[in-house]
Amino acid sequence: MTLSPGSPARSATDCRGVPVSYPHRDAIDGLERAMEISLSFNGDAVAEIDRVLGDHPNFIMGHLFKAAWLTQAMETRVYDDMVAAAKRAEALAPTANDREKGHLAAVQAWIRGDFYGAVQIWEDVLTHYPRDLLALELVHLTDVLLGDVVGQRDCVARVFNLWDEGLPGYEFVLGFYSFGLEENRDFHQAEEMGRRSLAMRPHNPYAIHAVSHVMEMQGRQQGGIRFMEDNGRYWKASNFANHLWWHTALFHLDVGDTNRVLEIYDRHLRGAGHEGDKYEELDASALLWRLKLLDIDTGTRWKDLADRWEPSAQDTLYAFNDVHAMMTFVADDRRDAQDRLLHANERYCESASDANVAMSREIGLPFCLAMKDFHEGRYGQCVDRLLPVRYRTHRLGGSFAQRDIIGWTLLEAAMRARRFDLALALANERCALKPTSARNWEYVARAFRGLGDRSNAERAHARAQALMAA
Ligand SMILES: [Fe+2]
Repeated sequence: MTLSPGSPARSATDCRGVPVSYPHRDAIDGLERAMEISLSFNGDAVAEIDRVLGDHPNFIMGHLFKAAWLTQAMETRVYDDMVAAAKRAEALAPTANDREKGHLAAVQAWIRGDFYGAVQIWEDVLTHYPRDLLALELVHLTDVLLGDVVGQRDCVARVFNLWDEGLPGYEFVLGFYSFGLEENRDFHQAEEMGRRSLAMRPHNPYAIHAVSHVMEMQGRQQGGIRFMEDNGRYWKASNFANHLWWHTALFHLDVGDTNRVLEIYDRHLRGAGHEGDKYEELDASALLWRLKLLDIDTGTRWKDLADRWEPSAQDTLYAFNDVHAMMTFVADDRRDAQDRLLHANERYCESASDANVAMSREIGLPFCLAMKDFHEGRYGQCVDRLLPVRYRTHRLGGSFAQRDIIGWTLLEAAMRARRFDLALALANERCALKPTSARNWEYVARAFRGLGDRSNAERAHARAQALMAA
């Protein structure tokens, strides 16, 4: 039987007991396959749900999954597909149950640019259906996109007691919890959750990612390199590979192995995936900017990357993308592209009222301008732009490890501006957060040297050397 809009819905449930209005088992099973692809970052979830919808065009939850999953791309190139899927779901709304109406309202809010409103609606769905794994996935991942640090953890906390190992997908819930706990600096519990998740399903790049974040934040560089290698067969062929290579490169960067960093960049980050894949391009940009802060020559790599970002210079869709585009335009001296991006953002901030406006205005634009200052040698101005916003940078979205690029730029600019008191304070702060980082102690040594305190400089340098030797 195929339901048409207006037909009464018979009751059906998915494998977690969550109600589905379209009672065809093969459609529900097909959605489960597509969800598993999205959760395990292994395959093409959109292609899979398209196959299901080919046989079941009235399967509203299939259209809603497609629209919702496409929200997570944060890219204009998938925007039309996202809107089309939402429209198809809208036409089927009379057959929908309350849960599905919630998913539809969330996607519609997103399309209006109300990202925070969309999260609230998905949260409401999750409150009523705590085993709605799709709602949980969307709340958690969107909280990461929007920089709601506490929400990333607590969306899982609110439902966790209602899950157990007997429910399909529990390992993914553990993976979400692991990452949320890590971002809230509960590293011990985060690692435990992550490793429990991996014990259930080793092919789980999100849990591997969460554990690698724990190791990054704790400065366990050698352990991190080993962990990524030991688990390589579970992530190197996944859709998460690019970002996990970026994490691997960070471990090597922190122990000063820049040759390996460049090798990873060339073999795995530069143009590794789909042309225009923003997540891949932003990881590549962020790695090159870190090398720039260390004054390492990266040859023509900036040019290649800036070529990839230029078509989206005026997107103003997501401030997190814009700052990474700006990195490439600044580093490759593309004044026209810089101006286009800045003017598009200024116009957008004046006229729009969507969720991304606040992200752009408060953090995105100041960081874009600060990077320009840095590159053009106005280090004092770079410091003055970043210092007031440094504790609000989470509003840009992404992870602490990703946003560390802002704090690191501020520190390097303070050093180059010869504001050594400030540089020492910032370097001390970094050492307190990650005392096993040789680079952080070298910054302390450099600041002391600038202040003329040779004995403290030597002491900090010795500590950095000891860490490198270990
Ligand atoms: Fe990450």
